[in-house]
Amino acid sequence: MTTRTRILTGITTTGTPHLGNYAGAIRPAILASEDANADSFYFLADYHALIKCDDPHRIQRSRMEIAATWLAGGLDVNRVTFYRQSDIPEIPELTWLLTCVAAKGLLNRAHAYKASVDKNVENGEDPDAGISMGLYSYPVLMAADILMFNAHKVPVGRDQIQHVEMARDIGQRFNHLFGNGKEFFTMPEALIEESVATLPGLDGRKMSKSYDNTIPLFTSAKDMKDAISRIVTDSRAPGEAKDPDNSHLFTLYQAFATKAQEAQFRGELLEGLGWGEAKNRLFQLLDGQLGEARERYHQLMSRPSDMEDLLQVGAKKARAVAAPFLAELREAVGLRSFVNQAAAPVATKKKAAKAARFVSFREADGSFRFRLLAADGEQLLLSRNFADGKAAGAVTKLLQSGDALDVRAEALSFSVWLDGAAVADSAEYADQASRDAAIEALRVALAPIED
Ligand code: TRP
Repeated sequence: MTTRTRILTGITTTGTPHLGNYAGAIRPAILASEDANADSFYFLADYHALIKCDDPHRIQRSRMEIAATWLAGGLDVNRVTFYRQSDIPEIPELTWLLTCVAAKGLLNRAHAYKASVDKNVENGEDPDAGISMGLYSYPVLMAADILMFNAHKVPVGRDQIQHVEMARDIGQRFNHLFGNGKEFFTMPEALIEESVATLPGLDGRKMSKSYDNTIPLFTSAKDMKDAISRIVTDSRAPGEAKDPDNSHLFTLYQAFATKAQEAQFRGELLEGLGWGEAKNRLFQLLDGQLGEARERYHQLMSRPSDMEDLLQVGAKKARAVAAPFLAELREAVGLRSFVNQAAAPVATKKKAAKAARFVSFREADGSFRFRLLAADGEQLLLSRNFADGKAAGAVTKLLQSGDALDVRAEALSFSVWLDGAAVADSAEYADQASRDAAIEALRVALAPIED
């Protein structure tokens, strides 16, 4: 049994990773995957990308760029399961099973959907204008991503916490409806990396594509240098003391420097290092750390078939987990083969009941008796006489209760005893071996029914 923590996260494939994505998500995820206790599942959320983007070229380019970025950044595919969401057909299949238990009211409360509705209302439009079912159901697809692999921890940004909570909610409901006491799905927890600073962009606001203030990661050294030269600084001239704690250039430096490098840079700024030179230092630091990875990135991008092969292996690994689990879930909801219905407990019971049966009858003197017949109709026992049917019925019940049988052999026959009295007898057998075989047949016939 594995006790490793299953860590799972997806990256929506709509853009090109920048320095902020690297420091905030990619680098910490790669580091986390190196922990011996981690069983990491990292994937390209390309079905999610379709919700936000209808440009096939952009989708395709982004998938390749993101795959190459993670691989160039040092992700060890032998250690982690790295795959494309769209290579796992079990995920959309699970999405449907979950859609059927997800409360519509729950999805109505999703932040992303609500924000779109609010915007429409503000603009005097129909509340659902421009909102696709994909956007609406986004959290169910994400729940399937997470629940499919029974992830324990899901590293995400703050904006995704609600989605992880919805995955718990939906998973719990499925467990409750179909688990029969069994917990199919593990309850995932969002993991927010408090220690990872969000990088500031060129203008000091959070680095984000939507602010157009990013520093490119692997495109080229020149692009990186150009972007760094555009970092906004104050107007202090060379020779004037700078304030490192109020400089986002320093914050950027800090995110990649050792403590010693950081201390030295701080000292130099305080002593009046010019901003031009400071930018140069930042470039040197980043280039030193990312230069080799940049080379690997371009190599990977120039050989897409190598990446395709790696991702196919990843898909195989992921499906080896997903396929048997989905088969179990299909069973649970009642999507079963018509052929193998042996699992149905009713069928087993009927068959066993047919194996031996009690037949009661009444004697001419008014007393009640019963016979126990084996499956082939042979008589195993004939009861003594009972004054009323109730007493006879109580005895047949006790014989079927599964309690140990008190069988006493006498010469070539045997009797069954209950509470110190013989209640039924066998026939006379030709020899002891036949008698013992009959005792065995009786025990089998009255063995508790198992299903
Ligand atoms: N919605 C996530 C985001 O935009 C990406 C994502 C899709 C994801 N499926 C996931 C993250 C499953 C964690 C787990 O950031």
